[in-house]
Amino acid sequence: MRISVIGTGYVGTVSAACFAELGHSVICVDIDSSKIDQINAGIPPIYEDGLSELLEKHAGKRLSATSDYDFAVTNSDVSFICVGTPSDSDGNIDLGIVKAASASLGDALKNKKDYHVVVVKSTVVPETTEKVVLPIIEEHSGKKVGDFGIAMNPEFLREGKAIYDFMNPDKIVVGSLDESSGGIVASLYSGLDCAVTRTNPRTAEMIKYVNNSFLATKISFSNEIGNICKKLGIDTYEVMSAVGNDFRIGPHFLNAGAGFGGSCFPKDVKALIGKAREIGYEPELLSSVIAVNEKQPSMMVALLKNKLGSLKGKKIAVLGLAFKNDTDDIRESRSVPVIKELLDNNAEISAYDPMANENMARIFKNIEYHDSAAGALHGAEACLIMTEWDEFKTLGKEFTVMKNRLVIDGRHMLASRDDIEYVGLCW
Ligand code: UDX
Repeated sequence: MRISVIGTGYVGTVSAACFAELGHSVICVDIDSSKIDQINAGIPPIYEDGLSELLEKHAGKRLSATSDYDFAVTNSDVSFICVGTPSDSDGNIDLGIVKAASASLGDALKNKKDYHVVVVKSTVVPETTEKVVLPIIEEHSGKKVGDFGIAMNPEFLREGKAIYDFMNPDKIVVGSLDESSGGIVASLYSGLDCAVTRTNPRTAEMIKYVNNSFLATKISFSNEIGNICKKLGIDTYEVMSAVGNDFRIGPHFLNAGAGFGGSCFPKDVKALIGKAREIGYEPELLSSVIAVNEKQPSMMVALLKNKLGSLKGKKIAVLGLAFKNDTDDIRESRSVPVIKELLDNNAEISAYDPMANENMARIFKNIEYHDSAAGALHGAEACLIMTEWDEFKTLGKEFTVMKNRLVIDGRHMLASRDDIEYVGLCW
């Protein structure tokens, strides 16, 4: 089938490359001409494991990019909206980019005679596809739904594993208002070994939010239990490893520590809270999920102050800047509030991340960045481990260059041992 993908961010580019791999012809659309040039040259505009291989394989053949909506809509049967849905200043979803993309798609659909299906893949709160996207497309195209199809098809892609997740899904959800447009979208995934859940658009939208909110809830629950365990001198990892054996609970996403970051969990939980409030429901549990998550970073600093007293002028090594391992993404990284608080306490910071130094340097210009853990640890009076990078598990002799070997571990990377003073965040 012929597909156009609107937006070449992480979801759009990964989806486009994977649809091409599944044998479809794909046209990417973006207003940013530098991204268009990169994709046409087979170079990924973002880092994602396996993406450059797929772009190299398909660019110029089954995959191309343009900024021309008319061209993309005329030469495709299905358009996926994959643009960003950031939070506004209150944490509610900002649909500005989705609205703009819908209007451009509507304009392009005006002159198209053949049936075309518009699919929302961006994460949008329930009712958005039917009450926001659909009316804009109708207004701009001068057509009524039925003349064109509309569907909602959320993504469940982890950063760093997005290509794998797309190709090996545990669920594919397609919400549509009519049987035929949903069938067309479902057929795009026929090369994958996974059943398609067919539903209506608002249920599809809700499934995405519930999925992420539930995972975020598991993490905040684990952090709350971890905070209680810490006060009782109990290792929460031992507790959760036993609890996770219950098949109704499962072993995943029970890792206590510095909390969740990234482009999805914080934003999506806040957006669901905003939607619930808009319809007159106060979501107390979801609000607590955010509250617990926001508390974890300052608990790292509190442990540090407890050990060192005033942080003024003291050199603190921050190991890990990305929001999780295997990515250079620092969005909502827990190291951001930690660094802010350390700077508010007039500490000197020496930081290291295997991939994210450059991105963090755009936010914090006046801290030291190093290209190795040993470099950051040199002369430090304490070290905070903020990201679950594998290489931190094997740190050993690197600690010998510290002025004072105090290690506060926010990700359960190390075990307590004799050559360092080891403090776990929740264990
Ligand atoms: C997440 C979802 O997993 C994915 O399905 C969705 O589509 C997008 O959001 P991602 O943001 O890439 O993916 O990261 P994920 O691997 O889920 O981790 C999110 C955050 O939670 C990270 O900051 C990680 O450090 C933290 N985390 C994860 C914990 O603190 N404890 C855990 O047990 C698991």
